[in-house]
Amino acid sequence: MDLGTGDGRFVYQSARQNPSRFYIGIDASANCLEKLSEKIHRKPGKGGLKNALFIQAAVESLPEELDGVANEVHIHFPWGSLLKGVATGDEGILQNIRRICAPDAVLEIIIGVDKQRDAGELARLDIAHISREFVETALITGYEKCGFRITEYGEYEAGDWPDICTTWAQRLRTNDKRTLIYLIAKAV
Ligand SMILES: C[S@@+](CC[C@H](N)C(=O)[O-])C[C@H]1O[C@@H](n2cnc3c(N)ncnc32)[C@H](O)[C@@H]1O
Repeated sequence: MDLGTGDGRFVYQSARQNPSRFYIGIDASANCLEKLSEKIHRKPGKGGLKNALFIQAAVESLPEELDGVANEVHIHFPWGSLLKGVATGDEGILQNIRRICAPDAVLEIIIGVDKQRDAGELARLDIAHISREFVETALITGYEKCGFRITEYGEYEAGDWPDICTTWAQRLRTNDKRTLIYLIAKAV
């Protein structure tokens, strides 16, 4: 499952590459989902896919039908309330994400931060820190309370990012001041 999937590129490409797995892209905004959610219903020769699905929903109100379904949850370059939820360890948001996880599911979160350029937005969202140290000192405990054990976390400096197959990864990776912070957790 890809939460805050945006235009759904990660879901579409992953579904094409792994036909035996099923991928679901979820986003609060219907506009960005329009193109690929139409394309997956075409004939296979025209880009149609049987193993992908897009749902318009906010992380605050994920449909019950998704409970316990995800083996993997990905959150790439979140913004707005999704960013606030995962970056501050908000209990309500993390519990909603935990609810859609199957036992032992893996949660991967990738956040791109340009401290100067994002300062206004981070202040608006009341996010004091996003850093490796903050994961260590605050988020590990917060995630644990909501049923996630953080197993790995770290930072990539600008210019040193790994390949991430999403539209925003492509857009943001050219900024030479944007650090990438990632964390991987397991549903326990
Ligand atoms: C910067 S875009 C990233 C899109 C995509 N993951 C990528 O990497 O290209 C952030 C996305 O998060 C979505 N989003 C923000 N808050 C959300 C929420 N509360 N629930 C679901 N999606 C949300 C936005 O609609 C937007 O599409």
